[in-house]
Amino acid sequence: MATKIPESYIDMVRSKTNIVDLIGQTVQLHKAGKNLFGLCPFHEERTPSFSVNEEKQIFHCFSCHRGGNVFKFLMELEQISFPEAVIKVAEFSDLPLPENVVAANQQSQHSETRQLQKLYQDAQVLYSHILTKTQVGEDALNYLHQREMDDAAIAEFGLGYAPQQANVLLDFLTSRQVPRELLVRSGLFAQREDGTLIDRFRGRVMFPIQDQNGNVIAFSGRILVQKEHEPKYLNSPETKIFQKRDTLYHFAQARPIMRQAQTAILFEGFMDVITAFRAGVKNGVASMGTSLTSQQLYLLSRAAKKLIICYDGDEPGQHASAAALQLLRNSDFEVGVVSLPERKDPDEFVKKYGASAFQKQLQDHVQTPIQFTLAQLANKYNLNQDADRLAYVQAALQEIVKLPSVIEQDLYLKQVASQGNVDLAALHQEFEGITRQFHRQQRAQQRQNRDVTAPTAQQPPTPVLSTKLDGAAISERRLLYLAIRQDSLLARLSADEDFHFNNEQIQELFEAWRDYARSPGEHTLAAFVDLITPDLQSLLLEIEMMEVPEDVSDEEIGDYQRNVAQAQIRQALTAAQKNVQHATEVGDSEAEMIWLDQVLTLKRQLI
Ligand code: GTP
Ligand code: MN
Repeated sequence: MATKIPESYIDMVRSKTNIVDLIGQTVQLHKAGKNLFGLCPFHEERTPSFSVNEEKQIFHCFSCHRGGNVFKFLMELEQISFPEAVIKVAEFSDLPLPENVVAANQQSQHSETRQLQKLYQDAQVLYSHILTKTQVGEDALNYLHQREMDDAAIAEFGLGYAPQQANVLLDFLTSRQVPRELLVRSGLFAQREDGTLIDRFRGRVMFPIQDQNGNVIAFSGRILVQKEHEPKYLNSPETKIFQKRDTLYHFAQARPIMRQAQTAILFEGFMDVITAFRAGVKNGVASMGTSLTSQQLYLLSRAAKKLIICYDGDEPGQHASAAALQLLRNSDFEVGVVSLPERKDPDEFVKKYGASAFQKQLQDHVQTPIQFTLAQLANKYNLNQDADRLAYVQAALQEIVKLPSVIEQDLYLKQVASQGNVDLAALHQEFEGITRQFHRQQRAQQRQNRDVTAPTAQQPPTPVLSTKLDGAAISERRLLYLAIRQDSLLARLSADEDFHFNNEQIQELFEAWRDYARSPGEHTLAAFVDLITPDLQSLLLEIEMMEVPEDVSDEEIGDYQRNVAQAQIRQALTAAQKNVQHATEVGDSEAEMIWLDQVLTLKRQLI
């Protein structure tokens, strides 16, 4: 919707609506302490972790970490934009819409999104009818049968056929009075030089692609008879409703099964997803023939803890696996990689060895990322030649140094020593130098990251870790909570140059609130949440839903601050102790002394 809704109107709608009434329409809420609780409408659950706070007019789910104000609730629930949510809330509360909005809203009933979805739905019905019910579709149907796709799978995946003729879809939609403008924007047609339209997909088996709610938003068409200069798969262009980076093939249908298994499987091709499905592996999805994106990972992270990459066994597939691992390095997923033998893709593998052999691969042949990486390196070099072997060892060390645990490092150092046929003690010595260099680089990197103010608005929210909090983490949450309420505390913490929250996100929230509090006008939490990124929102709402006593003495606040500072010292201490240990192990007595000294200094600062 192009019309801008005035800020004052948004504030008015927010203040005249009770979030409890609005959410109460969808969720059964029960009072428990300060908050109301119910079953979260955004994921399946048996015990309520969805809470609403009437006083603050916010909601938060402790399990999936979604949260926000009334507008956010409807945006999440109905997958609508912010302005659309404002209008819906206004209608819920019987508030008159501003005039310019009324006019625009009438149009938005038939918003372009909905019109495009309808168009794609119609096209999908047409293509699948042609495939399964007409003579024109016979060859395509035979082709699919020959690829061992049965009618149930064809129906489940909504497969279709776009005939070779130029105008099949065009005539169909034109007869339904679809405006030309919309046809042009739909991406379903190409324009000839004279401006006339022509079906984009011709002579192709059609794979409908759906968004996370199961709406068809695009197609990928596989050519039936391969011709030179024609791509094997042709995808819809990106449109208002289709962005490749946000889309995963078969995600909407696979999501419930991913949740059950807490595992998602990533394939390269659409055919692989379908074949795996037929082989009983139903939690598989594929990206759009492009490399994996962080947006896709975000979708997956809300459905599963574990991610198995099962790309093609050929070289490009293995490269793609390595690239995916790179992206996954900083994620919370437990990651596994399956490399299929004989350069096969999953579709070919199932065809040759059968469904149960495929399931066995996914169960018993899952490599950890480092196992995969080392195996790839070992393949790349000829371990019978000295020069190659040394290069292999060097490359392997560069990977092992990235492992978080010393024990794990040790395990793989032994493996590499025996594979590369080098002396273990010598390898350890080499590794020590590499470790030092790695840490230097990391520190430099951290400094650099701190200096760059990263643009955060466009990033997908990173799910908050729901690990148990220690005393210091609770203290800093309470400090933030109180600083949001007490101007004096806010001013004091802002003025203290040495003070810094340990958790970067809490620090960000603190700074954002500080800046917001300096802006003119009234300051409410429910308005503030619209100004920050989704991941900060999620954390803030978690903090706001804590039971925090509000009449806290200055002494107690002092304790919170001390807890935070002490945690910083403890962190530095742990790192220094690790370095001592490492230096001892490798027999570097000079480094050992330096780090021991550091340990003692830090210990003295601990209370
Ligand atoms: P089949 O040959 O039908 O078995 O397909 P496949 O699943 O083995 O496909 P392949 O491994 O060749 O490609 C994997 C994925 O890459 C496909 O599902 C497509 O998304 C994408 N892809 C393959 N070829 C093309 C192409 O020519 N153009 C585009 N845009 N994408 C392609
Ligand atoms: Mn294939």
